[in-house]
Amino acid sequence: MSEQVDYSRRRLLTAATALTGAVGAVLVATPFLASWKPSARAKAMGAPVEIDVSKLEVGAMLKVEWRGKPVWILRRTPAMLKQLAVAEPFLADPHSDGSIQPAYAKNDARSLKPEYLVMLGVCTHLGCSPLSKFEVADVTVSADWPGGFYCPCHGSKYDLSGRVFKGAPAPSNMTVPPYTFLTDGKILVGADSAAAA
Ligand code: FES
Repeated sequence: MSEQVDYSRRRLLTAATALTGAVGAVLVATPFLASWKPSARAKAMGAPVEIDVSKLEVGAMLKVEWRGKPVWILRRTPAMLKQLAVAEPFLADPHSDGSIQPAYAKNDARSLKPEYLVMLGVCTHLGCSPLSKFEVADVTVSADWPGGFYCPCHGSKYDLSGRVFKGAPAPSNMTVPPYTFLTDGKILVGADSAAAA
């Protein structure tokens, strides 16, 4: 299992992250790259993965793996959250009616806590891994870009909640896996929250 942290608005963030698996392995990543290997048994079972986000800087994104798929945890800034409304008129499925997420994440922020976006880092078109394009007006995407994710394979664009833009080949928003907060700084990916929709 591997983890990485992407930076969006800051360049000097040092996010030390601790990732804990079902077998209790703990690893601190400094700054971004480390590996963690769950037991073969835990892997086979697709066990939920505990992720320590207590040191994840605002504006930074943590990448982990669960059931062989990349899971991204983006700690959004207040400015990023405001951009969700800016993007909304241009989205294909703004209310995630035709997309996959737990009921408790079927909202504009597509999350249990607006600050934290937890989703699979997989384009819903043909499965490429989209790029982080968090900067507003990033000219590598477009001058009116509100911030989000861009899939270089065939050009699908997603907002900062992983909602797909109109006209993209991707048929739906990026998938939000089941997850819950064990504490304010610890997320369990792979287990549903008891939170109401
Ligand atoms: S795989 Fe992402 S646009 Fe085709």
